[in-house]
Amino acid sequence: MTSTELNRRAFLHLAGAVASTAVVLKAGGLDRVEAAGQSMADKTPQEVAKDEFYWREIQLAFKLDRSLINLNNGFTSPMPRVSLESVGRYMDMINMLPVHYQGMVASNVQTIRRRMAMEFGCDPEEMALTRGASESLQIVQNGIDLKPGDEIITTEQDYPRMLTTWDQRMRRDGIKVTRLQFPVPATQDFLYNMFEKAISPRTKVFHFTHITNLTAQLFPVKRLSRLARSKGIVTIVDGAHALGHFPFKLRDLECDAYGVSLHKWLLAPLGNGCLYVRREMIPRFWPLQAAPEQQDSDIRKFESIGTHPWAIRAALGESLAFHQAIGAERKAARLRYLTLRWANALKVHPRIKILSDLSEPAQCWGVAAVYIDGIDVRQLARFMMNKYRIVVVPLVGGAPPNSVFDYQALRVSPNVYTTLEEIDTFVEAMENAVKNGVPETPDPIPGYPADVTM
Ligand SMILES: Cc1ncc(COP(=O)(O)O)c(C=O)c1O
Repeated sequence: MTSTELNRRAFLHLAGAVASTAVVLKAGGLDRVEAAGQSMADKTPQEVAKDEFYWREIQLAFKLDRSLINLNNGFTSPMPRVSLESVGRYMDMINMLPVHYQGMVASNVQTIRRRMAMEFGCDPEEMALTRGASESLQIVQNGIDLKPGDEIITTEQDYPRMLTTWDQRMRRDGIKVTRLQFPVPATQDFLYNMFEKAISPRTKVFHFTHITNLTAQLFPVKRLSRLARSKGIVTIVDGAHALGHFPFKLRDLECDAYGVSLHKWLLAPLGNGCLYVRREMIPRFWPLQAAPEQQDSDIRKFESIGTHPWAIRAALGESLAFHQAIGAERKAARLRYLTLRWANALKVHPRIKILSDLSEPAQCWGVAAVYIDGIDVRQLARFMMNKYRIVVVPLVGGAPPNSVFDYQALRVSPNVYTTLEEIDTFVEAMENAVKNGVPETPDPIPGYPADVTM
């Protein structure tokens, strides 16, 4: 018997055991994900990445519309049913007597701060829970003292909302904003040198993404943070797409502040984010909403936003548990496996170009960008939707205040629940487009970010 057959048997045996105790184990619940994980205990993440029996269990842990193929998880991802159900449960509970239960849930959520800090490698006193990356990053962008003439160095391919925030400070406070441009994919050395060369005596902040939301270009965060620190420059890192996507520890990045959207790759309910601030740096940032002086060095000062839906925040705990049940390494390996499956199949076509770095060691996981020479990506995205019911976002470079870039591409972002059949359908659709072209439709899908903001 081959090891695959053995594993399959072990898994089916386990699944049988699970089914027979159905009173305790709900279909699609976290317990089944954990049981499936245990049956894979002897396998490497790369081996698990290819095991469809394991991923079938993950796929069943979501309530989805499988008549559509969602390859735009980079925008926001569905949460697993364990989180969805818990939002309802916390809502029900709080609603029974909001003034009583709200405070209770707010206190309980301190455990989630601790768990988040433990999972992602920082001190709980460095982890603020917020509503998303926009909020997290704007706290630090607007919260740092800057004088007229002080310079921020960022890039043209940073997120439009964050660029807008710096532009507003430029208008309001007279700071200088330098946006650097880079080709994609770029090497880590190129990006490092680009920032190093741009430093001037007035540079006060480096602001860049861990991976971009466009082609998933990875940045050398640790090297740039060390460079910045050696010159007294503060580093603000946009980790909207990175945390929960591929494994790393926040403290190892050595940056000063790091903002995340947890509704993307951590699969948390929409309205969850986090902000890591290196402990010594907490007093350097004013909170977006005022806090008392006694909280100057307290990470909680960034969380005071008045009455807000605690059920959403509390359910973050379930998404974190789901993430841990799969395991960061396995998740990253699967996301990479899915990306390489379509990218390797398509890259052999001379007219197909991939703008993300597929090389080893891994530079990209669940997000990559691709285009077909001679086909408008907005029309291609419409073709994907009309003919194949594939949801995918076309990237089209815009002008300031948006991101600026000189390529067009489809950004493809599957997730842990994506099936191989869905990936193969995307490959088939692209091959069809190469061979036969795509119809010109009067309503192409608007390109991001030139025509829409999201
Ligand atoms: C790189 C990047 N930064 C920041 C954000 C803002 O995140 P949110 O809209 O969740 O606040 C996004 C959202 O797509 C993003 O991709």
